[in-house]
Amino acid sequence: MAAKLSLKLKNFMQPIRPPLTIFLLGATGDLAKKKILPAIFQLFKKGVLSNNFQLIGMARRPMTHQQFQNYVNKIVSPIVKDADWSKFSQNLFYVSGDLTNAESYKELKHCHQQLQACGNHLWYVATLPKLYLDVIRNIKELSLEKTACGWTKFLLEKPFGTDLVSSQLLNRELLQVFAEDQIYRIDHFLAKETIQNLMVFRFGNGIFEHLWNRHHVDNIQITVAEQMGINERADFYDSIGVVRDVVQNHLLQMLTMTLMEEPVDLQPKTIHTHRMQFLSQLEVLDPITNPGKVVFGQYDQGTLDGKLVKAYRQEAAELSNSLTPTAIAAKLCVNSKRWQGTPIYLRAGKRLAQSVAEITIQFKEPINEMFKKHGIVQRGNLLTLRIQPNEGVVLRMNVKKPGLDLNMSQVPMQFCYKSEFQMGLVEAYQKLIYDAAQGDPTLFPQALDIEASWRVIQPTLDYLQDGDHQPDLYRAGSWGPPSFAKLLARDNRHWSEPSPGICNF
Ligand SMILES: NC(=O)c1ccc[n+]([C@@H]2O[C@H](COP(=O)([O-])OP(=O)(O)OC[C@H]3O[C@@H](n4cnc5c(N)ncnc54)[C@H](OP(=O)(O)O)[C@@H]3O)[C@@H](O)[C@H]2O)c1
Repeated sequence: MAAKLSLKLKNFMQPIRPPLTIFLLGATGDLAKKKILPAIFQLFKKGVLSNNFQLIGMARRPMTHQQFQNYVNKIVSPIVKDADWSKFSQNLFYVSGDLTNAESYKELKHCHQQLQACGNHLWYVATLPKLYLDVIRNIKELSLEKTACGWTKFLLEKPFGTDLVSSQLLNRELLQVFAEDQIYRIDHFLAKETIQNLMVFRFGNGIFEHLWNRHHVDNIQITVAEQMGINERADFYDSIGVVRDVVQNHLLQMLTMTLMEEPVDLQPKTIHTHRMQFLSQLEVLDPITNPGKVVFGQYDQGTLDGKLVKAYRQEAAELSNSLTPTAIAAKLCVNSKRWQGTPIYLRAGKRLAQSVAEITIQFKEPINEMFKKHGIVQRGNLLTLRIQPNEGVVLRMNVKKPGLDLNMSQVPMQFCYKSEFQMGLVEAYQKLIYDAAQGDPTLFPQALDIEASWRVIQPTLDYLQDGDHQPDLYRAGSWGPPSFAKLLARDNRHWSEPSPGICNF
């Protein structure tokens, strides 16, 4: 039977079939706190999770069930109503244990058997990526993937491995325990409304798709910038850096959804095949064979929102000599008939000037001589897809400036979710947990996509690992080091700066 489609019209969520047990591994972590536990609570409030569900959290720190309930209560208290909470809290349980140790899984199993062993099982792995293999092996060892009377799904957070070889190993081990259709790898950017909208925007509007190619597009730019630094997570961040943190996953997935070929239907398999085909047509990002196509930065001290912030190397004692890049700018090309020769510029990093994610399609200048002859400067149209914050789409077009003379001005035509759709956006983690439980894999990268995206950046990882490469320092609160601007200046182009004015009201 064909899997259900997440992109078809479905305006309300169906209840997830009970009884359901969610095993949340890494229940006390940053992601569980910020996203997963609030999303699960919201799904409960909406009636998607029934009273016949239970969540068993696991992490090392010791806590009783009651203490875990109090911990979750603090997290969801801004959105809690008493009645909802008292029903929800009865479903929360906790087992303290070390994920590297098989004994902990025995305790987890014991706790589960005492509650409700029969039913559907959703494993949500939200712990340190270096523990993923231990988790999979221990689940296998104790046969926890088996349930006599329901389904088992296995969700895991990015990054999937630390390079191509480790991602292949991870996929191999995963596939020894679960079938591919039980595995849901989470890259939450794919579940953002604005990324899902790319399919509708591109293929549901007759006016754009025939312009979406090298004949009409001058260049494509993708920016994923954060003002935030690394907070308390020095160890974690220093071991991954910007390339593994956001390029291998969010940026390449955004790029894929922007430029892949039109699928013939909305079946998850068709969409996955197109995503995979696009990723395999991307040129690898190799700083050695293509010097100057990728530049790295690391934040120095600077000012953000009027406050002085530390340099990366001052964030923790162990970072004092770190060469880990916290920002990157890169130029990529696609080996396809549609995109051959069209440059793609990617830029991402921490402690940059704004927290913003957007995709910009810069169209070529129109071919005509009449305005030029009169010294009137005309610019190519610019289409910006704002992913976050202030989600929307802006098309900048040329108009005649009112007045007696003929002058041209570029003005925005904008669509904003906030003003257009009062129901608000479906939060990405709610959507992903819901889709996984309902068996819809559309918005989840598959093993082969993941390996294809590691292949693109593997030469960059090798380059960073092999040498003593000093990243260019940039002032916190800026748009990166001067080398970022130079990367485009060499091609007579410049970065399109995200406009704080987009949909900002
Ligand atoms: N944070 C984000 O915004 C974010 C965004 C996207 C993806 N992710 C991904 O989500 C995953 C989790 O990230 P995070 O930021 O939540 O990490 P984190 O804050 O460091 O949390 C890690 C969790 O795992 C537990 N843990 C660590 N070692 C353990 C062990 N040996 N045995 C049992 N539990 C252990 C920790 O609790 P104890 O210390 O009590 O054991 C904690 O609950 C990572 O793969 C990350 O890449 C995070």
